[in-house]
Amino acid sequence: MASSLRVAAPAKLNLYLRVVGKRPDGYHELETIFEWIDLTDELVLEPRPSGIELTCSDPTLSCGEDNLIMKAARLLQRAAGSRPGAAVHLAKRIPIAAGLGGGSSDAATALLGLNALWELKLDHQTLVGLAAQLGADVPCFLYNAPYVVGTGRGDICRPIAAAPRLAHVLVVPDARLSTSEVFAGAQFSLTASKPSSSIVEHALRNGSLGELASGMWNDLEPEAIRRCPVIRTIQSALISQGCLASRLSGSGPAVFGVCRNTAHARRVARQLSEQAPASWRIETVQTAAEVRDGGHRRSGRTARAGRTDGRG
Ligand code: C5P
Repeated sequence: MASSLRVAAPAKLNLYLRVVGKRPDGYHELETIFEWIDLTDELVLEPRPSGIELTCSDPTLSCGEDNLIMKAARLLQRAAGSRPGAAVHLAKRIPIAAGLGGGSSDAATALLGLNALWELKLDHQTLVGLAAQLGADVPCFLYNAPYVVGTGRGDICRPIAAAPRLAHVLVVPDARLSTSEVFAGAQFSLTASKPSSSIVEHALRNGSLGELASGMWNDLEPEAIRRCPVIRTIQSALISQGCLASRLSGSGPAVFGVCRNTAHARRVARQLSEQAPASWRIETVQTAAEVRDGGHRRSGRTARAGRTDGRG
């Protein structure tokens, strides 16, 4: 059994999110494009003879059985048919309930990390099946690609190869939005004309920022803005600082702007910080760099343990 593992759990942005229908199970049918960014939580995993002990740097977060990391560990124990133990420490940096997928990423990373720590050798498809039980967007966090197209509940994943690293300014106002409430309150017009996700996908393949900006979309924005009007203020501020586009991530309230490059992003973040309320978290982020390591890095190193490109 591995001695210990330190694994990064990246946040996501939704470059595109369209609701294409309501499902009988109460979920919505989505078409979304995730981008993984270099804002990460970190999980440190150590083997124990038995029991799962979870600790977290953020005292407001529950470390009980309701935590998705704990649920991931329980699913893996069951799948393994044994009861291996672990101590898991979560260093929380991704804002909670902000639309950045932090909880889902932690869960996916726990599946990958514990699969490696316990040397279970569960294959990608098995992990995807377990991830889907934890949340709609958990499976897509298992893929080692900078961008992933999600359909179905957001859980049918297709990685996009050969894509550029983007520079963004991320702004998170001091507010929390419930994903289920934003979905429930949103009015979706399935007939209204909206850009197609293929514009974003094409733009990513070709590195065209102008085309990317023209195709970005989020159907949840109107409802999120209705509940949290400061989202609109942030978007206007980002655009007035020269961002090519600004969108809500997921169900919000995190908002991001697409910048021309990292220098532009730093400039926008600096200027915005001078005017913005102190309660807004403002930072520059980039597309996560790809790390392909097979999931066997040991203590002291940060890795995206065992994420696959979905072909293996
Ligand atoms: O699956 P997860 O717990 O992340 O989803 C949170 C909530 O978001 C769901 O309970 C549901 O209300 C809403 N949701 C949805 N359709 C999706 C994904 C999430 O309605 N495709």
